Parts: sequence; structure tokens; C-alpha cells
Amino acid sequence: MVIASQAGQPTADPSPSPQPGGSFDPSSPALWWRGAAIYEIYPRSFSDADGDGTGDLAGVRQRLRYLSDLGVDAVWFTPWYPSPMADGGYDVSDYRAIDPSYGTLGQAEELIAAAAELGIRTIVDVVPNHVSDQHPWFQAALHAPAGSAERQRFWFRPGRGVDGDEPPNGWISEFGGRAWTRTRNPDGSPGEWYLHLFAPGQPDLNWGHSEVRLEHEEVLRFWFDRGVAGIRIDSAALLVKDPDLPEVGDRPEPGEHPYIDRDELQEIYRSWRVVANSYDDRALIGELWLSDPDRFIRYLRPDVLNSAFNFDFLVCPWDAGRLRAAIEETIAVHGRVGAPATWVLSNHDVTRPVTRYGRADTSFAFGDKRYGIPTDLDIGRRRARAAALLTMALPGCVYIYQGEELGLPEVEDLPPDRLQDPMHFRSSGVDPGRDGCRVPLPWSGEEPPYGFSPRASADLWLPQPKDWADLTVELQERDPSSTLSLYRSALQLRREHPSLGDGDMGWLSTAPDVLGITRGGDFACVVNFGLEPVTLPPHDQVLLASDEMLKGGRLPADTAAWIRLPAGP
Ligand code: GLC
Repeated sequence: MVIASQAGQPTADPSPSPQPGGSFDPSSPALWWRGAAIYEIYPRSFSDADGDGTGDLAGVRQRLRYLSDLGVDAVWFTPWYPSPMADGGYDVSDYRAIDPSYGTLGQAEELIAAAAELGIRTIVDVVPNHVSDQHPWFQAALHAPAGSAERQRFWFRPGRGVDGDEPPNGWISEFGGRAWTRTRNPDGSPGEWYLHLFAPGQPDLNWGHSEVRLEHEEVLRFWFDRGVAGIRIDSAALLVKDPDLPEVGDRPEPGEHPYIDRDELQEIYRSWRVVANSYDDRALIGELWLSDPDRFIRYLRPDVLNSAFNFDFLVCPWDAGRLRAAIEETIAVHGRVGAPATWVLSNHDVTRPVTRYGRADTSFAFGDKRYGIPTDLDIGRRRARAAALLTMALPGCVYIYQGEELGLPEVEDLPPDRLQDPMHFRSSGVDPGRDGCRVPLPWSGEEPPYGFSPRASADLWLPQPKDWADLTVELQERDPSSTLSLYRSALQLRREHPSLGDGDMGWLSTAPDVLGITRGGDFACVVNFGLEPVTLPPHDQVLLASDEMLKGGRLPADTAAWIRLPAGP
């Protein structure tokens, strides 16, 4: 990677080449995941064909052309399995079926095939850390006595204290509150406690149990057999627990935490790799929130997972220096194992970028989500558009969360009685939760349901704002300056330009408030984070800009441009 080169004369020094075992031929279709544009579908909120107010697979099927026109290479479905929806589907009661509100297994199979016809691969979400409390295994465990074989697949323990009315340890749920819930015995008396790192409806599995391992390998095969091209692994660093269940302690050393990033995980994912490798080109993608780069990268060695979400980039504030550092670190770290980087601006768990970038603090942290933070959506939208061009220019794979391509803001005034997210409730209402980024998409028309549902009177599972008429797909398709048009143009250029997607990058030398990255010898993306317009480096053509350029070809504040550089000497 080049850290500095003359403005207008970039020299893209190749990033470290992949390590032995990670060797690759970038033109091979088997390595599609190295540079793909992957679109995240939250099925509840994408498109509703049957008019019940909840998105469904038939709705996705009707919109496949939209996805293909957008220019994405793959879609990732957040869990579409039967679920009581204690956590938006991340509480799965059956991995081999589809939730009836979404459709049937047959429809999923047809959807996978129809998407493939359009050149779109399908990625499904597997949630190995926990199941739903309605899953047959957990129901069997609840109805079996303490110490039974059925309970061994989970973490059941007696309570502490005289009557066992204190939880077995002090672990805190990721959603706040204690990570243990007490059961009741058949006679109504208080029983054992069970562990749930998330909501009580999501009991944690015991990954020390051989049936848990075998079951998940079979689930992978089940979906690979149905043509799925990749698996997104939910909460991938949490599966293994120290069987002694010790307290977390002050600052555990990496690998010593009782339930985060335990060494045994590597072996589990190696066995998943063996399953994936028994098919032709399947990808394993980890959701790994790990701040230690040395620990993070162990998961991306050639015999473990293929790729992981880049949350360091996602949480980064709108700041040239901080983003540059995040990009440099990402590329250096991934280069050590020959894994492709990924670039993510948003997903179904985080504040929409248009809102986040319009605030004084443009970083993201789960613990900081609050109601009533002053937000300038115009500035936020400018920055989100510029960030999109930066993200799509960087080397590796890019993720787009549904609605990001429409520039949707976070919905911050959902009626309290409609909220669903356990993160909101378990914070006693202090944290607005994640519902605001999960509101059903606006497709057409002037008022809710904006074509999301075929019935004008449909009661959507989350209500849409009254002022989204300007954000519909229908309107944005007709407007060349819309965010949707920007995403379409960028994704098309990204596909066509031989140096975009997977590969190497270099840096242009720029003012401190400006980032300039180069791809190949003739492409650069320049982003102006400062308050004043800047002059672009010498170029032959502006290929695309996130907002209108100023007279004399100057790049305004909070704007990005893709330019063609003059041919080198
Ligand atoms: C992941 C999902 C999130 C879910 C959690 C528990 O972080 O992205 O939506 O709540 O896992 O499954």
C-alpha cells in the first residue's frame, strides 16, 4: 500500500500479497466474495406482497429486478426462519423452514434460483450462539429435570444464595440487564437458571456439546444444498464459554474473556470451512465485533472464515484522519492473511448514516444511542452520499443495507407502543433501540404505505413517517441527482472498472481534510471533509460526484468525486 504519492501522479504500490494457502486468481468466479457488492435484506421491511403489513419472500421476488438494476452481486437475508420475533428473527425456532409470515421453504428455494438467474447470489444468516426459547431443544430442556441430557445443550445452572434466587454469575446481557433467567419447575417452584447473552427468548447453546456442533454443520449443508452461496455468522465471537462460568473481571486479556473470542472458536470454524469447501464457491462471513486486530485476523486465515464485517470503519466518525487510519489499518491487517477487506456503513443494528453524519458526534457506539440528539439531515445526507462513494471505491467487498441507497434517515419518532426492539426495553427506554433503522421501505406513492404493501390501508408492523414521499424508489428512479441514482451509477462503474472491487489501492497526497485514494493507474476517489471547497488533482474526467461540483471543477465540502487520472508517463 502506498501511503503518499504526488498529487496527480499516483503510484499504486501493491498491498502485501496473500500468504501461502491464500493464493488467489482475482478473475476466478470462485472468489466472488472478495469484491462483491452485497445488499442486506431485512425481510420484514423490504416489500410486502400479501398485504399483511410485513415484508415477505414474494415481495422480494417481485423486486428482484430492482436489485439487479441497482447492480448488486449478492443479497444477504437476515434470519427468515420461523421465529417468535423476540429479537426480529434472531431467535430461531427451526433452521430448516421459513417463517410463515414470510412464505414457505419452496418459495425460498425458488427465490434463490430466480436471483441466481439474474446473477445475484444469496447469503443466509445462521445464528449459532443461541436459539429461540420455542426451539424444540429448549422446550425439551425446560420440561426435563435439572442435570438431564436435554439441559446439557444449554447453560442451565442452580442459582446462588440461600434459596438459589441469585443468578449463577454476574454476566450482563448484550441488551442490558442480567444474562440469566430463572425457570420454574413443573410444580411451580423456582428452578434452575439459564444463560442468555441476549434476550431471555434467546437461550445460549453449549458449544462444548457434540450435538450442537453436528446440528450446525447439517444446517450449513441444508442451505448450501439449496444453492445458498454464503453464510453470515451471527455473533460469531460469542459461541464458546469458559465452562466454569467465571466472572468477567476488570480487563480480561485477549482470549481470556469467559465468553468473547475464546480460542476454541477457531476449531469450530475450521470444521465449518471443511463443510463449505465440500461445495464449490461458498463463503463464510463472520459478524465479529473485536477491537484487537491480532485477534480479529485469526478468524480470516485461509482455513477459517473468508471474510468479516469491518466494524472499525462503520463506527468511525466523519473525519479524514480517523477514516484514513481505519482504512490503513484494515488493509494492513487483512493483507497479513490475504483476506479481502469489507466496507460497511450501516446495517439493521446501527443508526442510519444520514442521521449519524448529521450530528455533532458522527461516530457510532451502541451505548451512546439516545433520544433527542440534534441532527442536521441535510449535512448528514451530503456526508452519507460522499461516504458511499468512498466505501464503494475501497478495495474489497462492500455492504449496502436496504434503504441506505435511498438515503433514508433513522426514524426517531416511532410511537412508543409500536416499538419492538428488546434493546430499547432492556435499557428501560433510555436507548431508542434499533427499530428506527428497520422501518419498511418506501417504494412509490405520496403517503404510507408508499407501495410497500399492496393495500393502502395495510397496518405495517412499524409505521412509516408521513414525510417520505420524496424518498420513494419511484421518485428517485426518475431523478438523476437522487441517492438511488448515485448508488446505481457507482455500482455500475464499480463493476465495469477493472481496478475497482478486489485489489490494491494507493493514497494521493492531499491536504489534511481531504482523502484521496487511487485504484489502478487511472482511478481516484477524492473526498473533501473540510469546510472549504478544494481543487481536484489533475484529472481527465469526473466520472461521478456525490453532489454538484462547483465552478472550475472544485469539490465542495462534504463531497466525494470519482475521477479518471491522466495516463502516467
Ligand atoms: C447480531 C444481530 C443482531 C441480533 C444479535 C443477537 O448482532 O445483528 O440484530 O440482535 O446478533 O442475535
